[in-house]
Amino acid sequence: MKSISLHGEIRKNLLPVCCLMIIGLAGGLVAIIQADTLAGIIDGAFLGGLDIEQLTFPIMILLASAFARALFLWLGAITGSRLAAKVKTDLRRRLMERLFALGPAYSEREHAGELLRTLTDGVENLDDYFAKYVPQLATAILVPPVILAVAFSLDYAAALIMLVTAPLIPAFMVLIGRWAAHLHRRQWAVLSMLGGHFFDVLKGLTTLKIMNRSKEQIIVISRISEQFRSSTMSVLKIAFLSALALELLSTLSTALVAVVVALKLLYGGLTFYQAFFILLLAPEYYLPLRMLGTHFHAGLSGRIAAERIFAILAMDGHPVEQNNKQPLKQTQGISLAFENVCFAYRKEQPQVLRSVSFQVAAGERIALVGPSGAGKSTIIDLLLGFISPDSGTIQVNGQELQDIKKDDWLNHVAYVPQFPHLFQGTVRDNIQFGISGGIEETQTAARQAGAHEFISCLPAGYDTLIGEGGTGLSGGEKQRIAIARAFYRQASLLIVDEATTGLDPHNEAIVKESLLRLMNGKTVLIIAHRLSTACQADRILVLDQGKIIENGCHRELYENRGLYYQLAAAYRGTV
Ligand SMILES: Nc1ncnc2c1ncn2[C@@H]1O[C@H](COP(=O)(O)OP(=O)(O)OP(=O)(O)O)[C@@H](O)[C@H]1O
Ligand SMILES: [Mg+2]
Repeated sequence: MKSISLHGEIRKNLLPVCCLMIIGLAGGLVAIIQADTLAGIIDGAFLGGLDIEQLTFPIMILLASAFARALFLWLGAITGSRLAAKVKTDLRRRLMERLFALGPAYSEREHAGELLRTLTDGVENLDDYFAKYVPQLATAILVPPVILAVAFSLDYAAALIMLVTAPLIPAFMVLIGRWAAHLHRRQWAVLSMLGGHFFDVLKGLTTLKIMNRSKEQIIVISRISEQFRSSTMSVLKIAFLSALALELLSTLSTALVAVVVALKLLYGGLTFYQAFFILLLAPEYYLPLRMLGTHFHAGLSGRIAAERIFAILAMDGHPVEQNNKQPLKQTQGISLAFENVCFAYRKEQPQVLRSVSFQVAAGERIALVGPSGAGKSTIIDLLLGFISPDSGTIQVNGQELQDIKKDDWLNHVAYVPQFPHLFQGTVRDNIQFGISGGIEETQTAARQAGAHEFISCLPAGYDTLIGEGGTGLSGGEKQRIAIARAFYRQASLLIVDEATTGLDPHNEAIVKESLLRLMNGKTVLIIAHRLSTACQADRILVLDQGKIIENGCHRELYENRGLYYQLAAAYRGTV
């Protein structure tokens, strides 16, 4: 069983955690030596009448211990930061792997802003937990008992006060811990909501402007911001309050020790050296506990973020790639067969695909048509392996899809989605998309996609930066780059989700023409939104409410006067 909790992360990093414990303990021991030496020097100088020569050695020890203490603090900070950096990098990698495994079916359903926040801020919040809280916890567990033992050897009464008062600090932390956790959780939820909302508003800015709904969004955002302000204030209030209480507790306890020590000194129960030593030790004794209280709140926000992080990591994703998977059998082209495939996005929901069966011969062009929500994209997602059927089988060249190595399978597929996504990078990177090759191949692909002309007109041609932060491209241009990408891949199966958004006639003609070129010699599955596209297919599958209700060529289906006929009539209005 993989460890999916903060404790699991600590267990996985035992070496740095042990180093932190040793460093913390060493720092505590040095603090004791420092207090002992200082008490000795003051005692020797003022009461023992020692001259500077006799005090030279203790003074050097004092200086050396001050230096050693600074060194241990620095070492502790570095080890803590390294541990935090390692855990954060590891968690980010695992989160990305999990999100890839869960696939678009999961990430598209989730609030993208919230996911983004978990991946960035959420993981970042763990920094304080691992860089400050964990090292402090190690120190707070180890150092006070050692100091207490020294105090017992000096004076029972003072040591007893220290023994009794110290647990008050952790007890107080546990007491406010639940309340603080509740407030932190609320703050995290509100901030996630705010992030998600901003993300949505940015994505839908055009729609909001056109529909004249910007003002409402500003009001909604101010309302969430106000909620965030109030929850942040509650978190700060409790953090300040607890800092005050902890400070007060440790100051009062130190004062109590001082009073007892002073009385004993006065009545001869203790020597000056002993009294002064205890007086110097008392603040050192409470310091790690007080600091633990201070870092407790910083650590808490990390712990709350971790709840979300580990919830994602614990999710059942797409089965992890197993070693027993086979490479795809190489034959002439790719043939597909769906047999009684059923699928539901969630167990409690009705099935989105109900006993879907169809076959596609190698080199055949199939158009999938059907009303919105019929399940067309779900079929594509199954084929791309983003989701797996609940029952039934999908075969590729007679081989079960689930037994084929995923990477191997996807290498044979070119996918042109409805709204292609261009990543930040050059035009060339976006066409090559991870498959290295020369500029000639890239240009050939772009030419075939009808994209070469407009790319040549871009400021730096194929080296122009596009995507986020780069030059903007029109819808038609993006689609042509996506088609060029598909040409470049030279895959045997082409899957196209035809764009429904109206391109201008010139662009539409270019896209259509290049798509036709792209289909040449490939097995094609196209979600057709235009009658003209459906007509060009060898066969049309009509899907309605998760079932294939018609299967045939345009003429047959048209004459059938079924759903296709009705859809065609509706399409006609749009072609
Ligand atoms: N990630 C998801 N989680 C839950 N339900 C989903 C998810 N994606 C799609 N659905 C549901 O599954 C059904 C089929 O969706 P699908 O996207 O396959 O339809 P479609 O035929 O592609 O429609 P369109 O033509 O509008 O793109 C719909 O009822 C939809 O609400
Ligand atoms: Mg769809």
